[in-house]
Amino acid sequence: MTDYIEQLLQVEIDASDFATFERFLPEHVLNDPVSFIDTVREQEGDLIEVKDGRIGDVAFPALTAADPQRTVYLACGYDSVRMLVGMQSSFYQDYRDSMDILMGEKQLAGLNPPEHKKYRALVSSAFNMQSLSKISADLIDPLVDALVLEVSNKERAELVQDIAVRLPILLIGHIFGLPIDKYGRFAKLASQLMTGMTDFENGLIASQKLKEMLEEVIEEKKRAPGEDLISKLIQSEVDGETLSDEDIISTCRALVPAGIETTTRALSTLMSVIIDNPEQMDQVRQDPKLVPAAIDELLRWNGPAPVIPKRSMESIDFANVSVPANAMIFVYLGHANRDPRNWEHPERYDLNRSRQHHLAFSAGPHLCLGNQLARRELETTLTQVLAKLPKLRLDPEAPNHPIVGFNFRSCDQVFALT
Ligand code: HEM
Repeated sequence: MTDYIEQLLQVEIDASDFATFERFLPEHVLNDPVSFIDTVREQEGDLIEVKDGRIGDVAFPALTAADPQRTVYLACGYDSVRMLVGMQSSFYQDYRDSMDILMGEKQLAGLNPPEHKKYRALVSSAFNMQSLSKISADLIDPLVDALVLEVSNKERAELVQDIAVRLPILLIGHIFGLPIDKYGRFAKLASQLMTGMTDFENGLIASQKLKEMLEEVIEEKKRAPGEDLISKLIQSEVDGETLSDEDIISTCRALVPAGIETTTRALSTLMSVIIDNPEQMDQVRQDPKLVPAAIDELLRWNGPAPVIPKRSMESIDFANVSVPANAMIFVYLGHANRDPRNWEHPERYDLNRSRQHHLAFSAGPHLCLGNQLARRELETTLTQVLAKLPKLRLDPEAPNHPIVGFNFRSCDQVFALT
């Protein structure tokens, strides 16, 4: 193991920072939001109006909190969702009440035409196949190897703390090109930034401190550029324009929820899938070519970021509803991915089902820029866990590990015997 990887293993990261924050929802919705929404959809169709902050008889305060006067919908069903995410000129991204405040207005997921295309082009080079191969060889492969080795040296493990929360934070730090002495601070601030979903003030404090830290890093990279994302962003140019320091900070800060929170939660779900499906996992162990299918099914079945916010730019008829201009539309990708018209028994995790295009990474102009990187993290982890922990199994004394959440889905803890 290199010194670099050994030092990364010392960085403290607390899994409780990623625990489910939506405990205010009733248990049946938290556990199985798709079935709950299905009961409402039977009456109301693919575009469900959120009236007085409620869907059916359940309160979803977060959906209307920003502006109680505004018309709000939840869009579901594969065909409607697929169409909606492709209609960029009718439905704009809308993170004005959340991410744009915490991360900065130039965060990619919140941008719309014409700015979005230019900024996406600037950031894209850091996520192409060449960069991905290098990141895999330099960090993902050796770090996952080391994390799994640590687990194999224990008798009992909690796989969310031991693996799921550690890989994504350390990986994003590496992609930024952070000096090793800044990882500890970065891990704390990144975790604190994500508390912004429930404690906005605390999130804002983290956002400001992260900005100060990134300013220091940008200055260092201007003096001594490397091959990392921040150096590339400093040097990148589209149509003769470069990014300001402020733009670089927004871009990087937005990768905390986009690249850390999503993948951490997906890895936690992967841990539960490994423990709960021993027969399917044995099949993958015998035939590692099934790893991509196992991960693709995980993302369809219980993707970590199933809801994205949009805004109608004009009044428009959509899914048999006259939608007014400036309505808020929460697009339920996770529901689209369980549409029984596309998948038989969609509620089952089944890596052997025939593969069809799902929407866990959305689609259209805002298709997740990190989708290949996320798949690589998940596939490498699954491969190494299956290869190096052949006896990994459920700890019979451990509490259940349900996958929960509406806006984010994940498992808080997964205890296992090694
Ligand atoms: C399993 C893990 C992941 C999932 C399920 C996921 C999902 C998504 C989704 C649904 C969107 C669309 C958001 C919207 O339209 O509002 C998105 C956008 C984005 N994601 Fe991911 N993501 C994952 C991992 C990552 C990683 C690892 C990175 C980078 C390190 C990343 C970077 C981005 C960026 C930059 C965008 C904005 C793209 C744009 O608006 O043009 N994501 N992601």
